[in-house]
Amino acid sequence: MSLLLIQIEKGKKMRPFFNLKAVSERTLGHGFFIDSVPLSHILDLSTSPVYVTSLNAIAERISIYKKSLENYFINHSIFYAMKANYAETILQHIKETGAGVDIVSIGEWRAARHAGFSPQKICFAGVGKKEVEWIEAIEGGIGFINVEHLSELQDILNYLSTHKLKLSSLPILSLRLNPCVEVKTHPHLKTGALDSKFGILFEHFVNWINIIQQDFSTQQDFANWLSPLKGIHVHVGSQLMENKIFSLVIDKVLECAHFMFEKNMLPMHLDLGGGLGVPYEGVDPNGDDIKKHIELFSTILVNNIKKYEALQDKWGKKCENLNVSFEPGRSVVASSTVFITKVLYTKHNSAEHHFCYVDGAMNDFPRPSLYNAQHQCEVINFQEIEKLETQFHWKIVGPVCESGDFLSSDALLPNLKKNDVIAFFEAGAYCRSMANNYNLRKLPSEIFIKDGRIIKIINNELPPIQ
Ligand code: LLP
Repeated sequence: MSLLLIQIEKGKKMRPFFNLKAVSERTLGHGFFIDSVPLSHILDLSTSPVYVTSLNAIAERISIYKKSLENYFINHSIFYAMKANYAETILQHIKETGAGVDIVSIGEWRAARHAGFSPQKICFAGVGKKEVEWIEAIEGGIGFINVEHLSELQDILNYLSTHKLKLSSLPILSLRLNPCVEVKTHPHLKTGALDSKFGILFEHFVNWINIIQQDFSTQQDFANWLSPLKGIHVHVGSQLMENKIFSLVIDKVLECAHFMFEKNMLPMHLDLGGGLGVPYEGVDPNGDDIKKHIELFSTILVNNIKKYEALQDKWGKKCENLNVSFEPGRSVVASSTVFITKVLYTKHNSAEHHFCYVDGAMNDFPRPSLYNAQHQCEVINFQEIEKLETQFHWKIVGPVCESGDFLSSDALLPNLKKNDVIAFFEAGAYCRSMANNYNLRKLPSEIFIKDGRIIKIINNELPPIQ
C-alpha cells in the first residue's frame, strides 16, 4: 500500500465526522463528506479558501472531557481555551454544552460574553494583563482570574479589598505557578521552564508572602486581604505528546498548595491547564486520548497527595472537596475542521522541486510557516482522475510574497491540476484564530455544520482601505 493510502486509511479511522472516499472516487465533489454534507455543497456555497467545521465533532470532545472528569472528581470544570478558535458559532455551541471558557484578553472577554457565557464560567488567564482589562472583567462579575505575576496579584488583591462592597461577586484568584519543567514540544509552545515568561516561581511566591505579611498589623487582616487567592494554576505547554512530566508538575503544585495551607490560605481550586497534543492523523473517535490524559492527571494527583497529610485532610483522600479544572483548546477543536484550498497552477523546477500554488496562504493557515507544523493534506476533489500512481513530493505554496509562505513543505500527492481541491486536516485550532490580512488579503470563508446541515456561512470581505 502506498504511503498516501496508509495515511487515508488512518485518517478515516481517526477523524470522527469526516468521510474521505478512496482516491479514485474523489471527483464531482462526492469523495469527501463532513458530517454527511458533501464537498460539492461547500464548493457551491463559498469562495475558496474556506474553513469547514463540524460542530458535533466539538461537542463530542467536550463531552468526553466532562465525562472523564466526572469519573474522578465531584467538583470539576472545563474552560475551553478560546484562543484556539473564537468563532462565535463555535463559542455558542460550546456554551450549550455547559462548559466554561478560558480567555486571555479583554477582546476575548467581550466575545465570550457576547456568545452568552455567564461571567461566572469565564476564567481570565493571560500573561501581562492590563489593569483596565482585569477591572472590566471583575466589574463584569468574572468567576476566575489566573494571576501571572506577583505585582498583578498585589494590584488585584488591593483592588478587591477596596471595592468588595460594591462588587456583586469576587473572582477566585489562582496563582499561575511556573513549575520549572522541560517539556517536549516546539520551543514557542513551552510555557513552564525556568526561561519562560509565564507564571510565578515558587520561591518568589514564598518570599513575597513572607515580606508582604509584614505590611499588615494583624494576621487576620492579612488573611482577609489574601482570601480571594484560592487556587493554583499550571500550564506547561501546548501540543504535548508525552506525559512523563506531569507527575513532577503535580508535585510542584502540591508543594505550593501545602505551603499555602501552612500560611492559612485555602487553595481549593486547581486549574491544570490545557496542552493535550493532537497527532498528525487526527483524534481518536472514542476520545481515548482525552480519557487517558484525565486519568493520568487524576491518578497522579490522588496518589501524590498521600505525601501530604494536611492536603488529604483539606481536600479529602480522593480530592472530593477540591475543584479541579482543565483548559483545553487544541484537543477540543483541532480535528473538527478542515482548511480547503484550490490549486491555481503547478511548476516543476527540477526532478526534486515541485511547486503547487494554491489560493490559500500563510495568512490564512499560518501554522506551517510559524511552527513548521505538518498538517496532513489530501486532494479531496480532482478535476479529472488520471495517473494516480504518479506522485510528487509537492511544496504547497500560497500567493503571499515570501518564501516562508508554504502550507506544506513536503506533501506526497498525485499529479495536480488547476481547480483540484486540497484539504488540510486538524485545522480547527490556532489556524483561523491566527489568520490575518497580510498582503491585504481577505480572511478565508467559514462554514459551520451541525447535525448534517450547514448552519452558518461567513464569506469574509477584503479589509477596508484605511
Ligand atoms: N491554558 C493556557 C494558559 C494556555 O496558554 C493555552 C495555550 C491553553 C490553556 C490551551 O492549550 P492547548 O490545549 O490548546 O494546547 N499557536 C500555537 C499554540 C499556542 C498555545 C498557547 N496557549 C499553535 O498553533 O500550536
